[in-house]
Amino acid sequence: MSHIRGRFSKPADKAVAQYTASLPFDYRLYPQDITGSIAHARMLAKQGIITDEEAAKIIDGLKSIQQEIEQGKFNFKTELEDIHMAIESRLIENIGEVGGKLHTARSRNDQVALDMRLFTKEAISDTINGIRGFQRALLDLAGANKDVVMPGYTHLQVAQPVLLAHHLLAYFEMLQRDVDRFNDCLKRVDVMPLGSGALAGVAYDMDREFLAKELGFSKVSQNSLDAVADRDFVLEYEAAASIGMMHLSRLAEEIVLWSSADFDFIELDEAYATGSSIMPQKKNPDVAELARGKTGRVYGSLMALLTTMKGLPLAYNRDMQEDKQGLFDTVDTLLSTLEVFEGMIRTLKIKSGNTARAVERGYTLATDLADYLVKKGEPFRTAHDIVGRLVSYAAEKGKSFAELSINEYKKFSTLFGEDVRKISVKSSLAARDVTGGTAPKQVEQALAKARKMVAKV
Ligand code: ARG
Repeated sequence: MSHIRGRFSKPADKAVAQYTASLPFDYRLYPQDITGSIAHARMLAKQGIITDEEAAKIIDGLKSIQQEIEQGKFNFKTELEDIHMAIESRLIENIGEVGGKLHTARSRNDQVALDMRLFTKEAISDTINGIRGFQRALLDLAGANKDVVMPGYTHLQVAQPVLLAHHLLAYFEMLQRDVDRFNDCLKRVDVMPLGSGALAGVAYDMDREFLAKELGFSKVSQNSLDAVADRDFVLEYEAAASIGMMHLSRLAEEIVLWSSADFDFIELDEAYATGSSIMPQKKNPDVAELARGKTGRVYGSLMALLTTMKGLPLAYNRDMQEDKQGLFDTVDTLLSTLEVFEGMIRTLKIKSGNTARAVERGYTLATDLADYLVKKGEPFRTAHDIVGRLVSYAAEKGKSFAELSINEYKKFSTLFGEDVRKISVKSSLAARDVTGGTAPKQVEQALAKARKMVAKV
């Protein structure tokens, strides 16, 4: 048995082997593990710790194991515990004793830290690509519906008119911060831990800088204990992913609302909706609902790992093996959510007649009426009060602002004149001509700026 049982005279209990094994989930680190091992073998040869010939055999052996795995021919034996042991023991099986030299100047503790860092670096790059794709879909939808107005809400009560494009650009901004967060997290992931050994560093003349270069890292870790005990980088990815999912979940909630018969602002493409098994009329927004639901699991993984780490003494502890399923699940969930959201956004239809009618309901121009009085000299607080009373009068009469006569207006303030008729959704939008406001001119500029930020280079 090639499994490490050094001081032991009998194998682990079957249930214990199952219980402690990570192979059922960490098998997916095989590309990182093999990449790391190839670089390590090269470094060992360069430093004269093993011969060039030995390194060549090891590297060839590792490459054929990668092929075995990719062709589905590799036998994953759970009793080998984890992907690191599974690959190493297969290497020794295939190329003989020389395979046993690969683990010189290395421990599984720095090896797994390396694999996780390589994995997270790739995950960050995939995540940013996914976010970019989704951002482009948002911008295309905004650009194709530039003139569409909709009610803006606070407290989910109709508040003021906004451009739909402005609303969509709000999500663009959130996602832009998500990109920044992942890029920032990358700085701390981008650290090469090999050379830390089990915890104290290794007793060989290794070239850590060479390894960093081979493996595409910009720095090497500065403390061996920290390097094998640190999972901050996983936590940071999960924290950034949690915030990203929270953003997607808020949009999901809006899509659920907007596609309901009560709002009826959008029509989801059939490819992105599902039917009911009993109610033939139903077209359900399951994609959005599931994104909202999966967000809970992503938060859970962050909370689970924070809790796992909080009581661990330095350096490596086996508890840390629990970092993997949560990270893998988080990456898979975020990437798949971004992918389906991109398609959902690209295919949904905006019902601009309905969004425009919704602006007409609910006195969304009340703030503009107050601003009108302010321009004629009324302090804002008084103007607010006057318009408030006007709204309650109009509501009682069942009239919109447009349906009130000028005389009715004048009952509330003599400052009202014929020119109050000039207040419209259009004038309301145009008036919000500040950076970040919903004036068409501003939104046009914001859209152009956003497009530049996500342009494919
Ligand atoms: N499977 C382990 C993990 O994921 C690898 C490191 C094992 N190290 C050890 N000393 N048992 O954390």
